[in-house]
Amino acid sequence: MQRKRQPAEPYRIKSVEPIKLLTRKQREERIKQAAYNVFRLDATDIYIDLLTDSGTAAMSNRQWAALMMGDETYAGATSFRRFESVVKDLTRKNFVVPCHQGRSAENLFFSTILKKGDYVPNNTHFDTTRANTLHKGGIAVDFPCEASNTDEYVSFKGNMDVEALEQFIHEKGADKIPVIVMTVTNNSIGGQPVSMKNIKDVSALCKQHHIPFFFDCARFAENSYFIKRDEPGYADKSIRDIAHEMFEQCDGVMMSAKKDGLANIGGFIAVNDEDLYRRLTELLIIVEGFMTYGGLAGRDLEVLAVGLEEVLEFDYLDFRVEQVRYFGERIKEAGIPIVEPIGGHAVFADAGKFLSHIPAEQFPGQTLTVALYLEGGVRAVEIGSLMFGGEDPNTGEKLTARRELVRMAVPRRVYTNSHLDYVADAAARIAEAKDKLGGYKITRQAAFLRHFTCEMEQLAPSGIGVEMK
Ligand code: F0G
Repeated sequence: MQRKRQPAEPYRIKSVEPIKLLTRKQREERIKQAAYNVFRLDATDIYIDLLTDSGTAAMSNRQWAALMMGDETYAGATSFRRFESVVKDLTRKNFVVPCHQGRSAENLFFSTILKKGDYVPNNTHFDTTRANTLHKGGIAVDFPCEASNTDEYVSFKGNMDVEALEQFIHEKGADKIPVIVMTVTNNSIGGQPVSMKNIKDVSALCKQHHIPFFFDCARFAENSYFIKRDEPGYADKSIRDIAHEMFEQCDGVMMSAKKDGLANIGGFIAVNDEDLYRRLTELLIIVEGFMTYGGLAGRDLEVLAVGLEEVLEFDYLDFRVEQVRYFGERIKEAGIPIVEPIGGHAVFADAGKFLSHIPAEQFPGQTLTVALYLEGGVRAVEIGSLMFGGEDPNTGEKLTARRELVRMAVPRRVYTNSHLDYVADAAARIAEAKDKLGGYKITRQAAFLRHFTCEMEQLAPSGIGVEMK
């Protein structure tokens, strides 16, 4: 595919935050002290942080100004009313439940609607969505489309497999399925978008079987941009109109507003069903806060009310999605294979392919992650056998992941293309020395979500030892 012109940032910089690259020797010391786990590093150890696009956005001058308008009244704050009106208009829903982030929305929602043994189909669950479903006794089932398992270059790889879903509904019965969820964009398979057609097909199927249809819409604006860019019939529609059309297909949404809310904290549920709203707010008041702040400060609600509008601006989204694509193409040119097409918020390097001499049991994704830190002070995250592997609790069998990936998520409005060029240059030096890289072994780990805290050791041969500075 031909590379499109790269738009320049549609904003200028008014406030800066210094970042510092430690020397190679200091980085070697720090990563060793962190037992080769990048989650154990401090922010001051890092030059470019691509760990996540969540809660890491830079706020605009309008958002900073709105922050001062925060009304911290406990009940009925004007800040909530502003936030509520933006969310209602955007999502086309009548009732808004504020909460402090995505997983608290999931907790409230699944606690309210799930019975033990219920199934929750999703195009692909995000980790916390899956964990919250399981936590309430539900069974999380993924229905990614066929292409999501391959290297095939197709648009809308985030789609749900409607045929498989339909068969599943027939097998299990609609009464065992209290909700079907669509994650837009589909984070777990690479930030891949979902087409309007697929959304409409799933919506029709849900209506036919009287199953509520919900979105997990952390990156709804990026998804709308992809629809405008790639789906026939949408090129001339505004992002706002596309977002409205998407939201009109579903009965409710859960959102982690730490992504496309362009804010550092926040989330919500929005629904049309008044009875469901009442049940959600009963629990909200017990676990998060009163129904007009839900665990957020008034100033956070103000910031979100502005962010949820700004994110719909075409120039912002065009720069955003193209910047991620530019970055992905630079990583590929550097000699590191990536997942394609490039998604909306991150570039996923295929470390399994790149470091084929390192077996999955020795975590090639971790090798690339540590190499990025050593080489450039860059923090990425392994999404492979370190995150998903371990031992089967029943059989003791050693599990490995389907793919050994490394995610480099791009925070919104934070880094310039020179920062990303810098990361790609580091990647190129790693690619040149890749045969010298060795794997890792875990020396200590927790029973659940081990990747956050585990300690590791390098297996020889290790390190590429290219002194940069
Ligand atoms: N749903 C999706 C699709 C997400 O990507 C996330 C978070 C959540 C729900 C949970 O939201 O963090 O506000 O509680 N994703 C982040 C990430 C953490 O790095 O991909 P949260």
